[in-house]
Amino acid sequence: MDTTQTAYKDLILQSDGYFGPYGGCFVPEVLLPGLLEIAAAFDELKFDAAFLAEFHDALHTFSGRPTAFTPLPRLTEAIGGAQLFLKNEGLNHTGAHKITHCIGQILLAKRLGKKRIIAETGAGQHGYATAAVCARFGLDCTVYMGRKDYERQRPNVYWMELLGTKVVPVEDGSQTLNDAVIAAFKDWVANPESYYLLGSAVGPHPYPAMNTFFQKVVGEEIRKQCIEATGRLPDYCVACVGGGSNAMGMFYDFLDEEEVGLIGVEAGGRGVLAGEHAAKVQHGQLGIFEGYHSYFLQDGDGNIASTHSVSAGLDYCGVSPILAYLADEGRVQFETASDEAALAAVQRLARMEGLIPALESAHGFAHAFELAATLPKDKIVVVNASGRGEKDLFITMRHFQEESLIAYAKHLLK
Ligand SMILES: Cc1ncc(COP(=O)(O)O)c(C=O)c1O
Repeated sequence: MDTTQTAYKDLILQSDGYFGPYGGCFVPEVLLPGLLEIAAAFDELKFDAAFLAEFHDALHTFSGRPTAFTPLPRLTEAIGGAQLFLKNEGLNHTGAHKITHCIGQILLAKRLGKKRIIAETGAGQHGYATAAVCARFGLDCTVYMGRKDYERQRPNVYWMELLGTKVVPVEDGSQTLNDAVIAAFKDWVANPESYYLLGSAVGPHPYPAMNTFFQKVVGEEIRKQCIEATGRLPDYCVACVGGGSNAMGMFYDFLDEEEVGLIGVEAGGRGVLAGEHAAKVQHGQLGIFEGYHSYFLQDGDGNIASTHSVSAGLDYCGVSPILAYLADEGRVQFETASDEAALAAVQRLARMEGLIPALESAHGFAHAFELAATLPKDKIVVVNASGRGEKDLFITMRHFQEESLIAYAKHLLK
């Protein structure tokens, strides 16, 4: 990839899988034919008008796009700085942005004649969305989920099962997303005729670019909606970063307009020590894992370190190779927000604007509130509300109203 120019949009979608030194396709030989098949199909379908029409039709009729672009007047006034807006990806069917790349990939898998889908999930949002599209399009589905996530995101496990998906709790390692990805890859190695529907802008080529391609509709809608609402583009776009799908979806369309600041917010967790956070760009080291080269949280011996975040969707050990490249280029700025700041942002948005964001998205809001306070009133800050907060009921309730939660649990067990 030529890094001397700044036409990032073309560079990303025309890439051979490398973004600067990041990305690639480091997989066991048995998976190569499957990945080459997906890459060839993606290269063709991204220019196929009939495929794109089917994709956008499903986004509209099944998922409910376009999602709302909502001003936050009370928060803007209380903070007293830049004007705040929210892109409500939580209004998508199944509650988050994840369904967008699931619809794109399921249509691609169908074109390839696939009958069985494998997926991993952290917060359960990608698994829930995958289960929904598999039911909708009639494909068999198995979702891997770390035991810890399986326990803390029970409602999403239930929805997946109701939709007919087999959910497999993974007992290895830290029992979070990372271990779920490894288990899903193992399944794919054993069943290479299946389609692996990866849930973020990570993994071997072509997943990072393909995920970005399907998710970029988010930024395209923001461009139109922000101009309609304010007469111009945002000054800042802010998104939380787990693997990077909602951030790349929001950022992609603005990459070549330097005047739009792009900020990714990672999980600062409970502190800066290893195992206490999930801030890969800021505290990770270079490595190759799960098929791609990027920043990963590692211990002194280069083993993958454990991660922590109050939000199940942000505690992944790696980050999109595209975001790693854009961070090096200085095009995307990276910040962190702590567990505590994210929880406070959920409460603030709920009380002041009547909106309950997912804990993942709340990391973006926590940073945006700080940023807005430092900016003049004519600036515009848009935050990607990647998901809605209902899935976090038992986590946030435990934090805000533990006694009510215990009373409810006792009532249910009567
Ligand atoms: C609502 C929500 N936001 C954000 C994320 C983080 O993933 P990504 O960085 O790929 O958007 C997740 C992951 O599960 C999620 O469920």
